[in-house]
Amino acid sequence: MNIVVTPVLALTPEDRARAGELLLTLLDDYERGLPTAPLVPEFDEEALTDLLSAPISREGIGVEGVFAEIKNKIIPNSTALASPRFLAYVSGPPNGIAPYAEAIAAAINQNCNFWQLGPAASVVERAVLRWLAELVGYPPDAGGILTGGGSIATLNALVTALNAFDPDFRANGLQARSAPAVVYTSTEAHRSVDKAAAILGIGLDHVRHIPVDEQHRMRVDALAEAIAADRRAGLAPFCVVATSGTVTTGSVDPLNAIADLCEREELWLHVDGAYGALFRLGTTTRDRLDGIERADSITLDPHKMLFASLEAGCLLVRDRKRLRDAFAFNSSYLTIAEHPVMVDFMDYGPQLSRGFKALKVWTALQAFGTDAFRAAVDQTLELAQHLAERVRRAEELELMAPVPLTAVCIRLRGATDTDHTEILAQLAREGTALLGPANVNGRMGIRACVTNYRTRREDIDLVVDRLCEFARSVESGRQGRSRQQLAGS
Ligand SMILES: Cc1ncc(COP(=O)(O)O)c(C=O)c1O
Repeated sequence: MNIVVTPVLALTPEDRARAGELLLTLLDDYERGLPTAPLVPEFDEEALTDLLSAPISREGIGVEGVFAEIKNKIIPNSTALASPRFLAYVSGPPNGIAPYAEAIAAAINQNCNFWQLGPAASVVERAVLRWLAELVGYPPDAGGILTGGGSIATLNALVTALNAFDPDFRANGLQARSAPAVVYTSTEAHRSVDKAAAILGIGLDHVRHIPVDEQHRMRVDALAEAIAADRRAGLAPFCVVATSGTVTTGSVDPLNAIADLCEREELWLHVDGAYGALFRLGTTTRDRLDGIERADSITLDPHKMLFASLEAGCLLVRDRKRLRDAFAFNSSYLTIAEHPVMVDFMDYGPQLSRGFKALKVWTALQAFGTDAFRAAVDQTLELAQHLAERVRRAEELELMAPVPLTAVCIRLRGATDTDHTEILAQLAREGTALLGPANVNGRMGIRACVTNYRTRREDIDLVVDRLCEFARSVESGRQGRSRQQLAGS
């Protein structure tokens, strides 16, 4: 008799079938529930405490048990990032095929370190990188790697820039340098630039935050002055990090003028396009990013405007050799020679073992096609303009900054900074929308960032109407208080 023994950590055929059924039901219920799901859940303290403190079961709770835990404790206590009125930070909902691609990536579990452990995975990652490179105007054989996000991509970019700048960097680090290396970015740059400088030992004292113009773009005259001043002081400028799509207002630094300056000064130009680079897809924004193709390296985030599920960031480097020079190491136990078709991605970034992130990006691009992504990006742009226009027209509200992409910063007239914080919390509590805070020129406001392909005009209108109501109630509360004060004096 042939007895089939299921290995201890595998599922029996019956369990596989049941897990599949439970998964499909769960995904379907989740999708159907999204329009009405609470944006930020009212936490079930008991369930969370239980999750935190429950001991690991010795015998296991099985497929049914685990799905019950997910359904009862995890999903109800999860933030609905895919809700149409999730407009906070820069975070898009995952595209529809993402969960299936993630499941397949987990099943085949390719290790995207060297090609032998994932030949097709290596080629798929290359294909995704080639497509992204073409999109930004890089040559198709540019270097690159998918990362955990934009912050890591920028960190890797600065490693690459330091290696290109100082041939002794790998051997000596920054320890033996007599002239400290200096990096330049704007006051509006994302904090991942500071973080990378701190992690790499460049030091925050050697990050220059260049002032911006009235449209929140890096001032090239001030940049040139700062570089010249540092050279006179005996320091060593090595890199400029420009931003295409700043996190607060979506401003795009003057990329061509900065590229000209970097060429003259022989500085590495990195563009942080975590939020903005993929607006190359947008019909009205394509040209706004002109000059991005002149950068030595670019950060962009498929988990933002390509609506990949978290995590999917990307670093592109125009000269692939530069990236390899920064990260390739020999080791006696990894001796497979690089194949002309398949890249060993362990030589293009700090990780050895790496998951198959490229599959979810590739699957989505294949399934929907680029026209669908362009339409989604165009829709976010159109909605952001609609929001901006409604704010301009509402006398209770003030548009705090121009809206070149999809971030819209709004101040309620008459409201204090504390009022703004309270209104943000109230909007989330009552389920109207999750918005984020904005600090524009030192003034506090509310920021809606349309990076959501599920958002519709009705959602935007609801948010604006509610903000106007808040502004009116703040105003009437203030008038009431001043009347009381007058009566009391
Ligand atoms: C301009 C910019 N740079 C970098 C980042 C960081 O990206 P990630 O969250 O993928 O690390 C963000 C995130 O919003 C961003 O907007």
